[in-house]
Amino acid sequence: MTQRRRILVSSALYYANGPLHLGHILEAIQTDIWVRFQKLRGHECYYVCADDTHGTPIMLKAQSEGVTPEQLIARVNVEHRQDLADMLIGLDNFGSTHSAENKSICDRMYLALCEAGYIDRRSVRQAYDEKAKMFLPDRYVKGICPVCGTADQYGDSCENCGSTYTPADLKDPISVVTGTAPVWRESEHYFFKLSAFEKPLSTWVRSGATQESVARKLDEWFTQGLRDWDISRDAPYFGFEIPDAPGKYFYVWFDAPIGYLASFTQLCNRVGLKFEDFLAVDSSAEMHHFIGKDILYFHTLFWPAVLQGAGMRRPTAVHAHGFVTINGQKMSKSRGTFITARRYLESFSPEYLRYYFAAKLSSGIDDIDMNLEEFSTRLNSDIVGKLVNIASRCAGFITKNAASTLSKELPDPALYATFAAAGDGIAAAYESLDTAGAIRDIMALADRANQYIDLHKPWTLAKNPDNAAQVRDVCTQGLNLFRALMIYLQPVLPDMAVRARRFFQESNWDWASAATPLLGSVIHPYEPLATRLDPKAVARLVQPEAVAAPAGSLAAAAPASTAAAPPKRIAASGGASDAASLAAAAAVEGNMISIDDFLRVDLRVAKVLNASLVEGADKLLKLRLDVGELGERDVFAGMRAAYEPAALLGRLIVVVANLEPRKMRFGVSEGMMLAAGPGGKDIFVLSPDAGAAPGMRIK
Ligand code: MSP
Ligand code: ZN
Repeated sequence: MTQRRRILVSSALYYANGPLHLGHILEAIQTDIWVRFQKLRGHECYYVCADDTHGTPIMLKAQSEGVTPEQLIARVNVEHRQDLADMLIGLDNFGSTHSAENKSICDRMYLALCEAGYIDRRSVRQAYDEKAKMFLPDRYVKGICPVCGTADQYGDSCENCGSTYTPADLKDPISVVTGTAPVWRESEHYFFKLSAFEKPLSTWVRSGATQESVARKLDEWFTQGLRDWDISRDAPYFGFEIPDAPGKYFYVWFDAPIGYLASFTQLCNRVGLKFEDFLAVDSSAEMHHFIGKDILYFHTLFWPAVLQGAGMRRPTAVHAHGFVTINGQKMSKSRGTFITARRYLESFSPEYLRYYFAAKLSSGIDDIDMNLEEFSTRLNSDIVGKLVNIASRCAGFITKNAASTLSKELPDPALYATFAAAGDGIAAAYESLDTAGAIRDIMALADRANQYIDLHKPWTLAKNPDNAAQVRDVCTQGLNLFRALMIYLQPVLPDMAVRARRFFQESNWDWASAATPLLGSVIHPYEPLATRLDPKAVARLVQPEAVAAPAGSLAAAAPASTAAAPPKRIAASGGASDAASLAAAAAVEGNMISIDDFLRVDLRVAKVLNASLVEGADKLLKLRLDVGELGERDVFAGMRAAYEPAALLGRLIVVVANLEPRKMRFGVSEGMMLAAGPGGKDIFVLSPDAGAAPGMRIK
C-alpha cells in the first residue's frame, strides 16, 4: 500500500428551509462512495457536512410559519440527518452553520482578512422595503423587464429574454415581501477584495484543483475580471453579526463554506483530531469539496481566496457534478417529479438508488437523468439478475451438499486471478470519480462469473453423488468470484456488502481482501440479498398534482375566480397578502407539513345564512356565514357552476377562518370555504354532521 493519506471531504451544505430531494442525494451518494472507497483503501478520511441556516429566505420562511429561525432550522436539521442516515450516507459529522464553532471561525477568518488588508468598506445603493423595514435581495424585487417588457421578472434577470440587470433597472418594481414599491437607500457594506487573488487563483486552478471543463469556465471568469465581493448584509438578517459592526451581518455565502470547517471542528473535538493538521497553510492533508455545478463561483473563486487571505490552506480539489433530471426533465413540483429523499425511502431501498446513481456518475458535469423505467430495468438486470444470482445459484450446494464448507482450493485459480487483478483498474476508476466505469468493469466480471457457472452447471452435476467434490469446487469458485465483486461494490452497496461478508463469516473486508480467495472455511446459509423492483411501484414515484396530498384532495372553493381551474390546494388560492401567499405556497411545495403547520390553520364550522349571485362575476357566489363566536362574515366562493344559491342556504360548511381578508372587485372576502373536486360543475362542499354548531373548531 502506498502512503496513508489524510483526507477531509465535504458535500455542499443544505439550505435549512426545505426537504432533501434526489438532487441533493445524488451529491451525497457521489461523495459517500468516494469517502467509503478511501476508507476501504486504508486512508484516513473524514466526511463532514451541515445545514446552511442563514440568510433572508430562511428568515422569511420562519416568519411565515410563525416560528423563530432557530426553531425552523432545528426541525429541518433533524429531518435532514434522518434522510441522510437512511440513505446510508456515512457522515463523520453533520453540523449547522448556526453553531458556536462556526461563529468563532468566521470571526477569526474575518479579522485575519481585515488585518491583511483584504476588507474594504463602500456605500451601496439598494432596494429597501419601507413596510417590512428591510433591504431586499435582488430576488425579492419583481417588476417589468427593462429589455423586453415581460412582467413579473426577478430583480437580477429576465426569464423571458435572459438579460441580466439590477433591481433598479426594473420598470414598476415591487417588493415580493409586502407588495409595496421599494425605495432606494444607501448603506455601508463590507467587501472582500477578490480582485487581489487573480494570479494565485489561476495558479491554483492549473494545479489540477478542478475538472477540465470547470477550468475552462473559470478562464472565462478570469477574462471578465474578478469583482470584489460584498460579504455584508444589513439587519434584519438571520446570521452572525460582523465584529465591531453593529447592525451588519455576514452574508450567508461568507459563513456557509466556513461551515465545512466548523463541522470539522466538532469532529476534531469529538475524536481528538488536530484542526491545524488539516487546515494549516503547509498542511500535507488533502481537502476535497463535492458540489453541484451551480455553486462553482463560490467554491472555486471566493472560497480558495478567502482561505488564502486568512492564512489557511486551499482546497486540494473541488469536484462538481451535473443536475439530476427525472425522465429527461428538470425536477418540478407541478409535474410531480420533485422527488424527496423521504418519498423515495418510503418505498425503496437506498442501495438501489446508490447503485443507479453510481452507474451514471462520471467525472464530468453533464446532467444525470433518472429515467424511472431504466431505473427498475437496470436494478433488476444488474443486481438481481447478475450479481446476486451468482451467490444464489451456488450457496445452496455448499450448505446442503458440502457441510457448509468451502473447498480448500479453487478449481480455476486463473479465473480468480483475473478478478483480483481487475481491482487496480476499478480502484483507479473510483479514485477519479468515474464510478460509471467502476460499475461497468464490475458488471463485466459478473457476466464472466455467471458464464463460469452456466458452463459447469452445478445443478446438473449434483444429480450424481459421485460429483460431490466437483460440485463443491465449482460453487466455491462461484462464491469467491461473487465475494470479490461484493468487496469492490462495498462503497456503493455498504449494507449488502455487510450482509454478504457475514454470509462468508468474515469480520472485516478492506480493498485488499479481494486479492486472496476464501478457502476451507464454513459459511452461513444464504439469505436473499436483493429482491426485484416493481416497475409500477417505481412509476408511482412521480405523482403529478398529488405530491402533497392524495388524489381527491381538498379543493378550496376560492374567493378568487379559480373554480374552473384544476384542483388547487388550500394555500395555493388564498385571499392572503402577497408575502403570506408566497410563503404558504412554498410551504405546500415542500410536500409534508408539520402538525404545527396544520394547527395554524383555523378550521371552523360555519352556517350559510345567505347565498347570492354576484353581479358581473359569473363564477362567484357570495355567502354570508355564521361562524359562532367569531361572528358573521362574507366569503366569496367560485362555485356558481356547481350550486344554486338556494341549495346552500342553512347548510353547515367548513371554513378557513384565519385567512387574511382579501379585497376583491365585489367586496372583501373574509375566509375560504372548503370543497372537493376538480372544479366547474364538479365541486362538492364539505359539510360536518348535523350535530356540529357554527364556530366549532375542527380538529
Ligand atoms: N447552501 C448552498 C451550498 C452552500 S455550500 C458552502 C446550496 N444549497 S442547496 O441545498 O441548494 O444545494 C445543495 C447541493 O445540492 C448543491 O451542491 C447543489 O448543487 C446540489 N443540488 C441541488 N439541486 C440539485 C439537482 N437537481 N441535482 C444535483 N444536485 C443538485 O446551494
Ligand atoms: Zn426580458
